[in-house]
Amino acid sequence: MCDISNARKSFVWVIWVVLVAQSRASPQLDLPQYEPNSANYPQNPSFIPNPNYSPYNGVYATQGTIPQQTPEADRGYKDIGKAYRGDVRSLLQALELQASQQCTNNVAAQWNFETNVNQATQLEALQAQQTYSEFQHAVWELLNHAGNLDNIPDSRTFRQIRYYSVIGPAALTPDQLDRYNRLINDMLAIYNTASVCSFNDHFHCGLKLQPDLNKIMAKSRNWDELQHVWTEWRRQTGQKMKDLYEQMVRLSNEAANLNNFTTTADYWSFPFESPALELDLEDAWTEIKPLYELLHAYVRRRLREYYGPERVSRQAPLPSHILGNMWGQSWSNIFDITQPYPGQNFLDVSPEMLKQGYTPIDVFRLAEDFFVSLNLSAMPLDFWQGSIFEEPRDRVVLCTPSAWDFCNRRDFRIKMCANVNMKDLITAHHEMAHIHYFMAYKNQPKVFRDGANPAFHEAIGEAIGLSVGTPKHLQALGLVPVSVEDTAVDINYLYQMALDKIAFLPFAFVMDKWRYDVFNSKVGKEEYNCHWHILREQYQGIKPPVLRSEINFDPGSKYHIPANIPYLRYFVSTLLQFQIYRALCQAAGQYVPGDYTKPLHKCDIYRSKEAGNILRQLMEKGSSQSWRDVLFQATGDSRLDGSALREYFRPLEDWLRNENLRTGEFVGWLYDGDYCKQSIETAGLQVYGGFYNACSQHFASIFILFVCLLVSRITR
Ligand SMILES: *[C@@H]1O[C@H](CO)[C@@H](O)[C@H](O)[C@H]1NC(C)=O
Ligand SMILES: *[C@@H]1O[C@H](CO)[C@@H](O)[C@H](O)[C@H]1NC(C)=O
Ligand SMILES: *[C@@H]1O[C@H](CO)[C@@H](O)[C@H](O)[C@H]1NC(C)=O
Ligand SMILES: *[C@@H]1O[C@H](CO)[C@@H](O)[C@H](O)[C@H]1NC(C)=O
Ligand SMILES: [Zn+2]
Repeated sequence: MCDISNARKSFVWVIWVVLVAQSRASPQLDLPQYEPNSANYPQNPSFIPNPNYSPYNGVYATQGTIPQQTPEADRGYKDIGKAYRGDVRSLLQALELQASQQCTNNVAAQWNFETNVNQATQLEALQAQQTYSEFQHAVWELLNHAGNLDNIPDSRTFRQIRYYSVIGPAALTPDQLDRYNRLINDMLAIYNTASVCSFNDHFHCGLKLQPDLNKIMAKSRNWDELQHVWTEWRRQTGQKMKDLYEQMVRLSNEAANLNNFTTTADYWSFPFESPALELDLEDAWTEIKPLYELLHAYVRRRLREYYGPERVSRQAPLPSHILGNMWGQSWSNIFDITQPYPGQNFLDVSPEMLKQGYTPIDVFRLAEDFFVSLNLSAMPLDFWQGSIFEEPRDRVVLCTPSAWDFCNRRDFRIKMCANVNMKDLITAHHEMAHIHYFMAYKNQPKVFRDGANPAFHEAIGEAIGLSVGTPKHLQALGLVPVSVEDTAVDINYLYQMALDKIAFLPFAFVMDKWRYDVFNSKVGKEEYNCHWHILREQYQGIKPPVLRSEINFDPGSKYHIPANIPYLRYFVSTLLQFQIYRALCQAAGQYVPGDYTKPLHKCDIYRSKEAGNILRQLMEKGSSQSWRDVLFQATGDSRLDGSALREYFRPLEDWLRNENLRTGEFVGWLYDGDYCKQSIETAGLQVYGGFYNACSQHFASIFILFVCLLVSRITR
């Protein structure tokens, strides 16, 4: 594993985290570096997920200062203005050169740091990031004062200007930007240094999110221990940052104003180019919801059987601490206690890969072969020379798998500490899909060298992963002797997928639904937490294990909230990957609607030039056109829609429906009491089963009766 402890003492860490977080939040001129969906990684069915991998966990926060400014002489962009003499085209040409150069410098510095962590590389990375922000700011000012931009000749030029002029927080004044960075900095410092004490041994403290708490949430089946970890983590993180968050919201909205958006919500929606984005997403969710409810009801039944009906009631929302994950965002870790057909395990080809003597490089050669078989190009020599495929022994490397575009049209690299196993086989394909995307749009202007919208990069990588993980493909690679047709194996496979991808959807939806409400001032600080739980109940059908109040700030227990990184893209990419996969599979003739011998979930696009040509068509446009047009031209879809996902999971959906009928499950959920109260006196009461003020219902013990009385007396 990757050990970054050497770097921990250093003060600059935290600022770096902030700057990176900030650059990620910006839809344009973003660092062209892609990681697997860090919200939900990995997304493949057949291995244990590590769903909250965040590259910045384990970072220590201490007092820090912003590093020295770079010398004036290094900043060539000061000359850009001179190029502008009323001619937009020559301005763009000058910008093109400068933006690429600035980007290359910055990416190179980040690469040097992440592949060789020490004080020197860290400082350089920080300075490079700051220089880049200053560059963005300078371009933005230039465009703001350029005038005459209204009568721009063509829409493509207009789009370039538009994208250059949306720079996010970098538009703030230096003072404001400093405050904004410090606020995020302080919140992440809380997040990254939080630790809790063990449940059964109060003198054993210092348990960190990664790996300790994630492991307990994944593996423990002790209700009280899970509840302890769930509440303590929130006490040590979110609860301490509510004020900071509110201040950050105000600055973030100011930055949005400077970018000519009403609020941060509009700024985040901008790259999705939809006049009614929230409605589009709500519609897409409505399409998925029936499937989610079937899954939810089935999982609730299995958990009721496991923990007892007094704790998991028949019609109530699910208690969020027993879902195998700190936030309930992926339920993969409770596969073992809920699987449809115990013992009917799906494929894991890891032993076979080892037996056949695969090395990490071989894994990437396999990935290359996959894309070549689709009529996409081989990886260039520079790629093989520059990339890191194995963890080096002579230096510290941040091991999160990632794909890098050095903005110069030829240098593309992957950084991954690969092992020989099935998970990394699929991740290698995923990362290489990013590289193919980079290569496909490399001839676009710099501002358009990006996904068609912020979800496309991941969606394409994940769509490839869906194909590579099928038994059919693994058989083609000679890693499985014969593929067995077995319904039980099939259902288990789809179920494992569903625990990850379907359970994730309402979670991702709520993350930004809540933030949009906050940024748009629909809810104020005095409602932050309870509004969060209202949405969690409404969309996810889950509830906190103990009564919450406004003294808590549970959204802050999830990394992307203090880091202020948008989450919408994860929701969109989870849907979009199935739309793209469906189009590729239809082109490959591997999926035929209505033909039960060719179901979507068994499709492998290996060796299909037709699929590859569609992929190229999707990718080569970058963000130069609206994503709807790009999607339409390649796939015939022009909107986000849930039908492909429903189609993929069809056999599981039928199975779940029958199973829920068989056991007479109530599908859906009913609100069963207060989950969150304004007043602080009632916070943190340990209440089983979830009916905090619904005491007229059945209760199992005197203890619960007592608690019910207590609660109803105080809270009314
Ligand atoms: C790592 O960084 C240090 C400090 O800049 C440098 O001296 C060393 O050569 C680098 N190592 C590699 C392998 O690049
Ligand atoms: C606490 O629980 C963990 C697992 O739940 C166990 O490994 C450990 O031995 C226990 N410690 C004590 C002091 O009981
Ligand atoms: C700012 O937004 C308004 C209305 O949305 C628009 O008319 C104006 O042109 C925009 N200004 C810039 C500089 O983009
Ligand atoms: C393969 O891709 C090239 C473009 O790179 C295209 O011109 C060619 O027609 C494709 N071949 C097939 C068989 O589709
Ligand atoms: Zn990725």
